[in-house]
Amino acid sequence: MALFDGIPYRLYAGSETRFIVHLALCGLGFLLAVITFVVQVISPAPYGKHENKEAKWGPPIPQRLGHMLSDALPGVVLFVLVFFFYGYQRGYANYTFLALFLAHYVQRGIVHPLMMRYRNAVVPLGITLGGFGPNCLYHFINADFIGSADYDDNFYYDPRFILGILLFVAGYIINRWADWKLRSLRNIKGDSSHFPEEEQGSTGYYIPYGGMFELVTCPNYFGELVEWLGWTIATWSLAGLVWTLFSAATFIPRSRHNHAWYKQQFEMYPPNRKALIPCLL
Ligand SMILES: NC(=O)c1ccc[n+]([C@@H]2O[C@H](COP(=O)([O-])OP(=O)(O)OC[C@H]3O[C@@H](n4cnc5c(N)ncnc54)[C@H](OP(=O)(O)O)[C@@H]3O)[C@@H](O)[C@H]2O)c1
Repeated sequence: MALFDGIPYRLYAGSETRFIVHLALCGLGFLLAVITFVVQVISPAPYGKHENKEAKWGPPIPQRLGHMLSDALPGVVLFVLVFFFYGYQRGYANYTFLALFLAHYVQRGIVHPLMMRYRNAVVPLGITLGGFGPNCLYHFINADFIGSADYDDNFYYDPRFILGILLFVAGYIINRWADWKLRSLRNIKGDSSHFPEEEQGSTGYYIPYGGMFELVTCPNYFGELVEWLGWTIATWSLAGLVWTLFSAATFIPRSRHNHAWYKQQFEMYPPNRKALIPCLL
C-alpha cells in the first residue's frame, strides 16, 4: 500500500450528525490551540519554575492531586468511558490506539504525579482546571474518533500505522527518560557530579546534563511532542492533529520561557542548547 493512499477508515457510518459534531469539536480544538499559543507566549502558566505567588489562580490544592485531576480524569477515566460507551468499533487498530493512549496517560496522570519531587506541595486550583478543561475536549475528540473509526483490515502494514507507532514509542521513551532524569536531580542518592552533596535531595533547581539534555532544555516536552506526532500519523486523524497542535502550542512557548529562565539563573548554562527541537528551536 502506497503512503498517503487515501483515508484508511470509514467514520460514523450512517451518522452525518456525529460527523458534523466531530468536525465542529475539532474546529474548536484548533481555535483553542491558537489562543493557548498566544496566551503562553505572553506569559507562562504559573506553576513550577514560573510560579507566581501574586497571580490569583484560586485556592491551593495538593499538587499531586491537581495533576491527577487534570490528567488522569480526562486521559484515563473519560477516555475509557467514551471509547467503550460512545464508540462502537472494536478492531485491532482501535485497541492498539487505546493501549498507546493509556500507556501515556496512566503514566502521566497517575505514576508521574506520585513519583515526582515537586518543589511546592500545592498548586492553585485554577492551574488544575486550566489543564482539565482543554484535556476533556481533546481527549473526548480522540477517544470518540478511535472508538468509532472502522480501519481497513490491512492497515496494520500501512506505512502510516508503522511509522506513527514507531514515533510514538520513540517519543514515549524520550519523555519518560527526561522526566526520570529531572526527578533524579533531586534524588538523595542521585547524580552527584554536578551539584554539592549537601544540596542533594533538596527541592532546588539544577542544570540537567546528559543524553538529550545536551541538545535541548526540554527533552521531556520534545519527547511528548514526538509521541503525539506519531499518534496523528498512526491514527491519520484530524482529532490527533488538533491535539498535537495544542501540545505544540503549550510546549513551544513554555520551553522558550524555561530556556530563558535557565540562562538567567545559571551563568554557565550550556550556550549551545536549543529550547525544544535539537539544532532548530
Ligand atoms: N500535553 C500537554 O499539553 C502537556 C503540558 C504540560 C506538561 N506536559 C507533560 O507533563 C510532564 C511534566 O511537565 P512540566 O511542565 O511539569 O515539566 P517540568 O517543568 O520540566 O517539571 C517536571 C518535574 O521536574 C522538576 N524539575 C524541572 N526542572 C528541574 C530542575 N532544573 N532541577 C530539579 N528539578 C526540576 C519539576 O519540579 P517543580 O514542579 O518543583 O518545578 C517537576 O517535578 C512532562 O512529561 C510534559 O511533557 C504535557
